[in-house]
Amino acid sequence: MNSIKKNEESAEAVKFFFDGYAEKFYSIYLEDQKNPFIRLIDRYLRYSMFLRFQKVSEIIKSTSSSEVLDVGCGPGWHDFLLAKYNNVNVTGIDVAPNMIKISRKLSSENNMDTKLEFIIADIMDYQFDRDFDTIFALGVVEYFEDPESLINVLKDIVSKRILFSVPVENHWLTPQRKIRYKFRNCPLWFYNKSRINDILTNLSLSNYHIHDLGRDYLVEIIF
Ligand SMILES: C[S@@+](CC[C@H](N)C(=O)[O-])C[C@H]1O[C@@H](n2cnc3c(N)ncnc32)[C@H](O)[C@@H]1O
Repeated sequence: MNSIKKNEESAEAVKFFFDGYAEKFYSIYLEDQKNPFIRLIDRYLRYSMFLRFQKVSEIIKSTSSSEVLDVGCGPGWHDFLLAKYNNVNVTGIDVAPNMIKISRKLSSENNMDTKLEFIIADIMDYQFDRDFDTIFALGVVEYFEDPESLINVLKDIVSKRILFSVPVENHWLTPQRKIRYKFRNCPLWFYNKSRINDILTNLSLSNYHIHDLGRDYLVEIIF
């Protein structure tokens, strides 16, 4: 099978999976609607989701970013928090229409439509007519068969930083996630530091940090 066809097939499988999973995924963020058992489990098993956003939020604040792009924004929860507490304008893009439906509802219900914009599109196909200070992608790059192409696209529309998380290959929770996503028919890839270094070196990027967050790496590329 040629590699372009393979990339297209895996992108389609990812879109199909997340469109069907949108409501359930959003419920991860709704702490007050969870029963105490699920709250406890999520706090333990999904702690890295909180950690990686906290780090991104700190970096956005400390670098005085005002125009931010969230790639694979999902239900827009992070964008809502950034617009509300960091006072930045955020554009979210996601290929899954049901994710964007939730994002737009969250924005309009909280009167945030002047600070938030949501786009339904595959980031690889969309043409932006402006640049962003900071671009982040949390829990997204692992679904790309070809992460170099994605970073190349982002490089052209950023001025300060690209931040993205990838899951750590050598973590005790990795095998169960591999199995769960195999059953869900949603392809995903895991990372070690040397693979990240290779990808960034191939793209001639040398100014970057790899923050080790335990279950995830948060990669910070500085321009
Ligand atoms: C695990 S969710 C993470 C959502 C959000 N970043 C968060 O942390 O709450 C991954 C999201 O990436 C989106 N996605 C995957 N591939 C994409 C692509 N090529 N273009 C835009 N969005 C994409 C999926 O539709 C999904 O909503």
